[in-house]
This record gives sequence, structure tokens and C-alpha cells, in this order.
Amino acid sequence: MAVPERVLTNEELAQMVDTNDEWIRSRTGIRERRIAEDDQTTASLATEAALNALAVANLNPMEIELIIVATSTPEHLFPATACIVQDSLGAVKAGAFDLLAACTGFIYALNMATQAIRTGSVSNALVIGSETLSRLINWQDRDTCILFGDGAGAFVLQAGEEKAGLLSAVMRSDGSGADLLIVPAGGSALSPSIDTIQEGLHYMDMNGREVFRFATRVMTQATENAVKGAKLEIKDIDLVIPHQANRRIIEIALRNLDIPLERCVINLDRYGNTSTASIPIATCEAIEDGRLHPNDKVVFVGFGAGLTWGAAVVVWSGAFPTRIKMVPGVIRVYARVRSVILRFLRRIDALIWGRYQ
Ligand code: ACO
Repeated sequence: MAVPERVLTNEELAQMVDTNDEWIRSRTGIRERRIAEDDQTTASLATEAALNALAVANLNPMEIELIIVATSTPEHLFPATACIVQDSLGAVKAGAFDLLAACTGFIYALNMATQAIRTGSVSNALVIGSETLSRLINWQDRDTCILFGDGAGAFVLQAGEEKAGLLSAVMRSDGSGADLLIVPAGGSALSPSIDTIQEGLHYMDMNGREVFRFATRVMTQATENAVKGAKLEIKDIDLVIPHQANRRIIEIALRNLDIPLERCVINLDRYGNTSTASIPIATCEAIEDGRLHPNDKVVFVGFGAGLTWGAAVVVWSGAFPTRIKMVPGVIRVYARVRSVILRFLRRIDALIWGRYQ
């Protein structure tokens, strides 16, 4: 995982908009969130998280065959953030694309990468959830600015002999609720103009009450369906790692599912809602806190704009045995030099061949 150093507390927010720490904590469970510095972006956080994940998996970036970045705050409309990450890693063999399913994106990406490995199309994949939601927030809008934070998390998936990894996945959507959580302008429906900027249409707009109602319903349903798909029962699940949007949403879903709070990872008090990054960040912390062990059966469950929702049941395999020792700093320098040389060669190529066209 990778999160910015800068912490924004509820008290600080209360000096920016008409809100207070007590309201935010009691309605959401959030105490503070991380905010990206000016030089941090979705791709830079994704790259940092990826390097950390690759170090744990002892996989050299040159061996990666697929990179999926799940994000709702891409570096640009195009090219894909995943391509920028590919370049920053020097992942010479990797196909790379972004996946947009809002906060459910990480579950969708995990399923897509697993299926690519299971069909034999690739033998490994890097799945990243990365967000700089602070850049899409209207800091005058107390309905949304209290909820979100920045960060990234990454998983390395590899084909292996043991029976582990994804057992089942549920991916669902309902576009009739597209307007409930939306950044209206900046795409093909409403291209950027002075008017869209003046009307604040490049910021996130949300109907919180409707999203809350939808979330509690689908978190329960998706978990039940994924557990059934894995031919398991709720009592077999060791740990639930839900999308970290609101503590009340998680508690209601757990109550409906009859799962005790102790079997659930909640860290939204320190990070807020980091969208596609929330599940991998919570997973990282569960490992570091000794709450997630090899062979544990885990449910990942989430919901988000779209509307989208989904769940996955996995058997956690833990890191693979060491092959080579990877040093993230060396990889970074190698990838940077490689990128500069490639850009230089492209210029030379254009100089030589450009005049013959
Ligand atoms: N501080 C103080 N008061 C506030 C604030 C605030 N930040 N925001 C709203 N209020 C007020 C409202 O104006 C309202 O006042 P009123 O009763 O006088 O009208 C009152 O508090 C209650 O407002 P509600 O909107 O009913 O508050 P609710 O309990 O529903 O909590 C919240 C709002 C936290 C947004 C909740 O609805 C929620 O969490 N919804 C889900 C949002 C979510 O998870 N979004 C992310 C989806 S994932 C993705 O794809 C990005």
C-alpha cells in the first residue's frame, strides 16, 4: 500500500466547512484522511504501492504480464494510468489498462486478472487500486468533502499449484442510478468549458441518503451470493474486508449477515473512503496486524458509483517463495533511465525517418 503523509483531520475540515468532528465521527466513523501532495498523483501512488507489492511477492517488474489499474481518478482521460505505471516500473512485457467501476473497481479487476491467469492468457498480473479523490472534491461541499481520502493498494496474482486465490466473484451494476454519484462534466456528455467550471460540474456530486440505502442492501446480497458461489457458508468465512465508505453501512451489512464485528477489517477511521484503494489498503493492514493468514477464507465486498457492486471470496495464499531479491529503489531508477532512453530513441527515429514520409 501507499498513502500520502499529509493527514487531514475532522477538526481541520470543521475550519473549512460548516461541520464538526462529532457529526462526522457519529455519521461515518471517519476521524481523518490522507491527502496527496501537489507532486503526488494516482499513477505515482499506484507505482509506489506496486513496488511494495512486488517486493513482497519477490517478482521483478520485467516479469509482469498484465497491469490493471482500477481507478475513478485517472491521471488523464487517456492514456490509461496503467500505462504510466507500466513505464514507471519498466514492466517491458506487460499489457496495461484501466478499469472504471468506481469503488467496486478493485473487486472487478481482481476477478478480471484471475480469469486472465486461469485461461492461461497470462501467468501473473498486478492489480492496483489507486485514487486521488481529493482532486475531484469541492472543498466547500460538506456532503462530500468529509468522506474521501487518497491512497493506493496493490495485489500481485500468480498462477500456482496450490488451491488458492479466487473461489467466486459477483459483479453487478445498475446504470439507472448513474446520477446518484457522478462527476457530471469533463467527458463526452459535457465537455469542459468556462460554464462547466463556473457551475462546479467537474466536482463529485452525490445523493448520500440514496447511496446509503443502496449500499446496505447490496453489500448483504453480494456477500451472500459470493459465499454461495464458493460453495461455502457464512460461518466458514474467517475475515470480511469491505469497501471502507461508512462504518454504519458496514455494521448494518454485518448485522444482516450475522457476522460479528471482530471478523471484519475496518480502517476507515484513519483513511476515509479511498474508493478502489480501500480494500487493498485494508488487506495490507490486516496482514501487518496479524489478522490475515495463509489459507484464510476472505470476503471482499464493495459498492460504488455506476451503480456497481460486487463481492469476491478468496483463499488467501500469502506471498510466494523468494526467487530474487527485489530492491524498489533500483527498479525505480532503472525504469526512469529506460523511459528516458526510449523517449530519446523515439526522437532520433522521427528525425531519421520523418523526412521520408
Ligand atoms: N456536517 C454537519 N452536518 C451535515 C453534514 C456535515 N458534513 N452533511 C450533512 N449534514 C446535515 C444535513 O444537512 C442534514 O441536516 P438537516 O436534517 O437539517 O437537513 C443532516 O446533517 C442529516 O443529513 P443526512 O444526509 O440525512 O445524513 P446521513 O445520516 O445520511 O449521513 C452521509 C450523510 C454520511 C453522506 C451518508 O448518507 C452516507 O454515508 N451515504 C453513503 C455515501 C457513500 O458511501 N458514498 C461513496 C460511495 S462509493 C464511490 O463510488 C465513490
